[in-house]
Amino acid sequence: MSEYILEIQNLTKDFPGVRALENVSLKVKRGEIHSLCGENGAGKSTLMSVISGVYPKGSYEGKVLYKGHETGYHSVKDSEKEGLAIIHQELALSPYLSIYENIFLGHMQTKFGIINWNYYITESKKYLDRVGLTEPPETTVSRLAVGKQQLVEIARALSKKVELLILDEPTSSLNDDESEKLLNLILEFKNQGITSVMISHKLNEVLKVADTVTVLRDGKSISSSNVKEEQLTETRIIRDMVGRDLTRRFPERKSAPAETVLEVKNWNVYHPDYHSIKVVDNVSFYLRKGEILALCGPMGAGRTELMMSIFGRSYGSRSEGEVYIKGKKVNLPTTRAAMDAGLGYISEDRKNLGLILIQDVKTNISNANLRKLSKMGIVNKNEEVLEAEKYRRELNIRTPSVDQITRNLSGGNQQKVVVSRTLSADPDIFIVDEPTRGIDVGAKTEIYHILNDMVAAGKSVVMISSELPEALGMADRIYVMNEGRIKGVLSHDEATQEKIMQLALVN
Ligand SMILES: Nc1ncnc2c1ncn2[C@@H]1O[C@H](COP(=O)(O)OP(=O)(O)OP(=O)(O)O)[C@@H](O)[C@H]1O
Ligand SMILES: [Mg+2]
Repeated sequence: MSEYILEIQNLTKDFPGVRALENVSLKVKRGEIHSLCGENGAGKSTLMSVISGVYPKGSYEGKVLYKGHETGYHSVKDSEKEGLAIIHQELALSPYLSIYENIFLGHMQTKFGIINWNYYITESKKYLDRVGLTEPPETTVSRLAVGKQQLVEIARALSKKVELLILDEPTSSLNDDESEKLLNLILEFKNQGITSVMISHKLNEVLKVADTVTVLRDGKSISSSNVKEEQLTETRIIRDMVGRDLTRRFPERKSAPAETVLEVKNWNVYHPDYHSIKVVDNVSFYLRKGEILALCGPMGAGRTELMMSIFGRSYGSRSEGEVYIKGKKVNLPTTRAAMDAGLGYISEDRKNLGLILIQDVKTNISNANLRKLSKMGIVNKNEEVLEAEKYRRELNIRTPSVDQITRNLSGGNQQKVVVSRTLSADPDIFIVDEPTRGIDVGAKTEIYHILNDMVAAGKSVVMISSELPEALGMADRIYVMNEGRIKGVLSHDEATQEKIMQLALVN
């Protein structure tokens, strides 16, 4: 038996106008955790799709050897039969089916045409146990938070006797606690002999769990390093990813906040389904011109609900309280009204980014900004292209052209299109909800630069961030929330990770 469970030899994969992978070689040892790193658009997801049969044999050049023999998969079903499971960047469960149906979907056995549901419910409990989910198997998947949905996907993989588990950015939408649990699970699988390949932009997590790290750059394999033997560091990985050293992740800024531009007083928001439950509880805060404000706190603290309810009442069955923009009391019943009042919002929801995936990149970027780009109702196409090109350059959106269909962009590059769209609408007050989720280290710094330039030009930013270093590095002030309430506020100079966590826990 070969030491390697997976070997990729000289793999090249083209899409119209794009060479996604060029002569890539990679070896994954049996039983190890192998991490794949690289910038947005480097080819990571494409490579995993080739391995798992999403792209069938014949659509690429080169060889994929799995358990010692060359694969020739025509679909994911083929690879699943051989114990290969992939968990995609965007979750792929059926939201309206139950947990156990999702686990066994497509591989239930019938006896005389009848499915023994009870058997599958009991059986699913075994796998839910292994991933640490305590929800009843009959629960509808859409009721679960993202982190738990991810665990259902993993339970599904286990039910198929997985030997090689591929995880594409599994922790990108999880908080610290959930991420840690997931990483521990992967380590536990390693003890059980399951091999994992994990794609991630979170290099600290990579170094925590991986035995080997492979870096892709521009579709080429750059390096494969043994983490322990080579004492691999984040700096080394970044250098291989971007081809140079990245010195400062958080650019320096001289902050000079001026007068208050947004003030929210005694804001209460009620749950969309359960009308008597308060999700945001009597919150007051202010934001100044030229200021970056961060909202920190654990998942479920009410940060997104707070900001979405202010932004045109996009969340909740009801919200009460007062909002002042530049000293004037406003009522913002719709997102249009919020945008007209100078607010812009970048949503955290990766699956539902608000992009129209079948439309091209330039149309998506100009979508929020058609008024500026049109005259008497007609969109000026040249202006539209120029605007899109500007953001393609500034944020390094990887696409052969701005006419590309957005769905064909890599996950991180789609996120950059979302950021561009809101920037292009040129709001005075910019609400960004996890703006750098799924974005590589280099592009993150670009986004920080842009936010800094915006506040230097007199705009204001409210940033919801689960990455504490990001909040600490960028914000003038940090409001700490938990359980729907503001628990405290810290200035840039006094804020530390410990103080933020402490504040979140006070009663
Ligand atoms: N179906 C497709 N049609 C055309 N181009 C594609 C398609 N799928 C991927 N690409 C292109 O192939 C390249 C690699 O994309 P891929 O999704 O593998 O990147 P990635 O490394 O996973 O990036 P990210 O970190 O953003 O997820 C990108 O330039 C992307 O635009
Ligand atoms: Mg990807």
